[in-house]
Amino acid sequence: MIRSCSVSRFPDVSTAGAAVPASIFAQLREHLAQFPGDVIPLQIGDTHLSPPSRLDEIAWAELAGGDLYAYGAAGGWDPLVDAIAEKAATKNRIGVTTSGVQVTVGATHALACAVQALCDPGDELILLTPHWPLIRGIALGFGVVPIEVRYTDSLEAAITPRTAAIYLATPNNPDGAMLGVRELEAIADVAMRRNLWLLSDEVYEDYGYDAQHTSIASLPAAAERTVTVFSFAKSYAQAGLRVGYALGPDAVISTMRKLVNHSVYNVPVPMQRGAHGALRGGAAFLAHARESYRLARDRARARLLAPADLPAGGAYLWVDFRRWCGDDCLPILEKCAASGVLLAPGNAFGAACAGWARLCFTGVQPARLDEGIDRINAVVEKL
Ligand SMILES: Cc1ncc(COP(=O)(O)O)c(C=O)c1O
Repeated sequence: MIRSCSVSRFPDVSTAGAAVPASIFAQLREHLAQFPGDVIPLQIGDTHLSPPSRLDEIAWAELAGGDLYAYGAAGGWDPLVDAIAEKAATKNRIGVTTSGVQVTVGATHALACAVQALCDPGDELILLTPHWPLIRGIALGFGVVPIEVRYTDSLEAAITPRTAAIYLATPNNPDGAMLGVRELEAIADVAMRRNLWLLSDEVYEDYGYDAQHTSIASLPAAAERTVTVFSFAKSYAQAGLRVGYALGPDAVISTMRKLVNHSVYNVPVPMQRGAHGALRGGAAFLAHARESYRLARDRARARLLAPADLPAGGAYLWVDFRRWCGDDCLPILEKCAASGVLLAPGNAFGAACAGWARLCFTGVQPARLDEGIDRINAVVEKL
């Protein structure tokens, strides 16, 4: 409801706040409560692996106590920031100094601060779709208008005078698509010609199976206009620590730093220590996790009766139920839930995606994955 300034707001909340949809994952968690019994959670992006660095293995007593209990630096804990800058240069070929690194409360917070730093209320943020669900709510929360553009559609046709930035994810959630150098160059070219920012979500950078991950900010045309976001949740199975980070041009990162400072002050230092351990000593974990996820992907794709392309990367099968349900597969997902297996409904990933559902193949042990897929197959066989 639009109201005039002279009328007090109470008891209404802000228009932008009210526009944010409830997170699909929170909704599903509530939904899960209706199906007690043995439910296999293939709806959420999770991992069954243990992280390479665990907080309970840190010798806390031996550490200088001060930085565990005092406020920390807004940009991040120095050893972690240094390790990230080094990783950015060697692994991502993104040249940043420590002023171009911002540690955040997970990638979610990095993306929120980036949207706030790059877009004004009323600006448009193009989302290459299907897209990670929360990015839409993040935009709406800042009064930014999300514009969904399918990966395959013309990007240029969606640009208006209000367009501020393009959000892309590679490997993508939910369909695992990975953008190659040519595609990234084409996106960077559009951004350059139309003076747009790029917001590149690369939280699945370590989970490319059939292709090499490339960071768009490593391309000369994109470097000065890209904020890139990463996550310890995805790379190192540390979702509970809530540590992520953004890389970008110094001017944008210094704005994001102010926004981090005004939202959480600083990311808890003990959590950053856990993340630092993973970044410094997690190479063997990454190799093991990548192989284990690749096997899970192949196993899931081979077992599932419903169609889904083999994803090049990421953690999900993007299952196409349209032959049975047309444009709305919710009734099928309800049947799956009643049979004890949950999938994430496609409409959370884009308005035109309601005939699809997302299946996470990394969240449960292989035997549970098989069991979950058998339950989905049993539903499909009866359609
Ligand atoms: C594509 C994508 N971006 C961002 C995030 C958020 O990551 P984090 O848990 O670090 O906040 C996720 C989490 O699932 C994701 O899939």
